[in-house]
Amino acid sequence: MDSILVKGNGALNGVIPIAGAKNACLTLMPATLLSEEPLTLTNAPRLSDIATMTQLLQSLGAEVAGLQEGKVLALSSLGPINHVADYDIVRKMRASNLVLGPLLAREGHAVVSLPGGCAIGARPMDLHIHGLEALGAEIELKDGYLHAKAKGGKLRGAQMTLRMASVGATENIMMAATLAKGTTVINNAAREPEIVDLAQCLRKMGAQIEGEGSSRIEIQGVDRLGGATHQVVTDRIELGTYMLAPAICGGEVELLGGRMHLVAAFAEKLDQAGVSVTQTEAGLKVSRKGGRIRAVDVTTEPFPGFPTDLQAQMMALLCTAEGTSVLEEKIFENRFMHAPELLRMGAQIEVHGGTATVKGVEKLRGARVMATDLRASVSLILAGLAAEGETVVSRVYHLDRGYERVEEKFRGIGAHIERIKA
Ligand code: UD1
Repeated sequence: MDSILVKGNGALNGVIPIAGAKNACLTLMPATLLSEEPLTLTNAPRLSDIATMTQLLQSLGAEVAGLQEGKVLALSSLGPINHVADYDIVRKMRASNLVLGPLLAREGHAVVSLPGGCAIGARPMDLHIHGLEALGAEIELKDGYLHAKAKGGKLRGAQMTLRMASVGATENIMMAATLAKGTTVINNAAREPEIVDLAQCLRKMGAQIEGEGSSRIEIQGVDRLGGATHQVVTDRIELGTYMLAPAICGGEVELLGGRMHLVAAFAEKLDQAGVSVTQTEAGLKVSRKGGRIRAVDVTTEPFPGFPTDLQAQMMALLCTAEGTSVLEEKIFENRFMHAPELLRMGAQIEVHGGTATVKGVEKLRGARVMATDLRASVSLILAGLAAEGETVVSRVYHLDRGYERVEEKFRGIGAHIERIKA
C-alpha cells in the first residue's frame, strides 16, 4: 500500500485549481438511469470513487465513457437495465445506494445491496427506505439486499418529513419522485450545494423541481426525462481542505473556482481563528492574518453549518492554535479517528463521545501515522506540513477516493510531499 511522505517547510504560496465535487458527481451519475438519452457531465473529478460508480452503473447496463481532457463523463442508459446492484461493488462505497431511487423509478423494481459497515459510524438507510415507501415502494431486506418494488409498477407522489436532513436520502427520494405520478413534497430536506446541483441537472433533463437549497423541495412527476449536459459544481470540501494549507503553514494561496457561499460557515471560523479569506474573480484567496492561530469552537451541522467533512482538517489546524478549542461532531458518531494519530505528532486532544477538546501546541512533530478514512488522511497531511521533521502517512488509498492529484496540488504551492509506492 502506498504512503505519503510530508516534510514541514514553512509558508505555502501559489494557486490551486479546485475540482468538480466528488459528492455531487456521485449523485449526478446515477441520474442517468432515469433517462434513455445521454447525460454528459463536465468538470467531473478523476477519483477512485467515480471509477467505482462507473463500474456500478456499467454493471447495471449503463454506458459510461470515461474522463477525457476537459473532464467530461458521458453516460447513457438506453439499453435494458439490470436492476441488481451487487454487494461486491456496493460495499466499496456507500454512495452506491444512490442507484436505488433511480432504478425503482425507471424499472419499478430494484435489488440493491446494503452498503455494510463504515468506519465513521453506523450510517443506516432507514430514511431512504421510509421515503421511498412513502412513494409507494414495498421494500424488504433479504440476504443483505434491499428488494424494492413499486406497488402497481409505478411510484406515486407523496408528502413526507425526513427525521433528519440526510443528504443521500434527499437525493434518492428526489430522483425517484421525478418519474412518480403526482406531486412529492420533501420536508426537512437536506440543503447542501450538491442537492442544488442535482436539482439543476434534473431540471435540464426535464424534471419539475422547486425549492432546492431550502428545507422544502417539491417535485411534480413527469412521464419521461431526456438528456442533458451539466457542469459539476466546485468541490467545497476539497476547497476547504486546501484553504487550510496557508492557514496552518502561513503564506497566501488562491483557490481557483472557489466561491464563498460554498464554504461560508467554514470561512467564518477561519476568520475568527485569524485567517483572512477573500473572494476574487477567479476564486478564494486565503492567508494568515499574522501571529499565531487562535483557538475557536466548532460544531458540525448540516449545510449551511460547518461541514462534518472538514472537521478532521480543522482539528489539524486547531492543534497548533493558541488556547483550547472544543470540536463537537453532531453528524457522525465515531468520527475522531484522526485524533489518536494527531496525538502521535505531539497534539494534545481529549475525546469524550462526540466532543474533542484540543489544547493547541506551539509545534507538531513529524511521525509515522495511519490514515483511517478519506478526510482523516488529508488532515494528517496538513498536520505534517505544519510539523517539524518528516511525517509518513500510510494507507493513503482513502485519499485517492476524494482528492485528485493531491501531491501535485500541494507541490504547486511549494509543499514537500511525495508518494512512496509500496
Ligand atoms: C453525504 C456525503 C458525506 C457527508 C455526509 C454529511 C455523499 C456521497 N456523501 O453522506 O461525505 O459526510 O453527507 O454531510 O454525498 N442517517 C440515518 N438514516 C439514513 C441516512 C442517514 O440515520 O437513512 C444519518 C447518518 O447516520 C448520519 C446523518 O444521517 O448521522 C447524515 O447522513 P447523510 O446526510 O445521509 O450522509 P450521506 O448522504 O451518507
